[in-house]
Amino acid sequence: MRLRILGVLGGLLLCFAGAEEGAAADKLEFQRDVLPIFETKCLRCHGEKKRDGKLDLRTVDAMLKGGVTSPVIQPGNAQKSLLIELLHYNEMPPKKENPRVTKEELELLRKWINAMPVPPTASPK
Ligand code: HEC
Repeated sequence: MRLRILGVLGGLLLCFAGAEEGAAADKLEFQRDVLPIFETKCLRCHGEKKRDGKLDLRTVDAMLKGGVTSPVIQPGNAQKSLLIELLHYNEMPPKKENPRVTKEELELLRKWINAMPVPPTASPK
């Protein structure tokens, strides 16, 4: 019993530490900064109900796994990320679908991808 209480307390402490960190660094966070954009503009086709292009945009893992063309993001390299390319050429959301992604949002997504740690397995270049 005592151990369980300690476990809960420890968990709470970790939560606080996490929140602290997020507030201090003004780096972009998937949950806070990126997901809301996808929620309003992408998830109705790339989320729980539908997976157009076999793509799920609800988690970073799912994006790294990718869709028909995998993966759709290249950590550390927005330039090479299919997701960015499609948004840049205004091809997603598909033509005539609204709302569109704004320049500011595209910029935010670029920054977020460029700031992602590059996995050791990723090829150079
Ligand atoms: C109205 C539905 C719809 C919306 C909204 C939409 N998409 Fe798509 N998306 C599709 C369809 C359909 C495909 C697959 C067909 C194709 O490749 O043209 C696709 C394919 C993709 C692909 C390529 C997947 C692959 O592996 O080839 C990416 C990346 C993508 N979408 C990103 C987005 C992003 C980011 C948004 C939001 C800004 C978005 N989409 C919004 C319908 C949608």
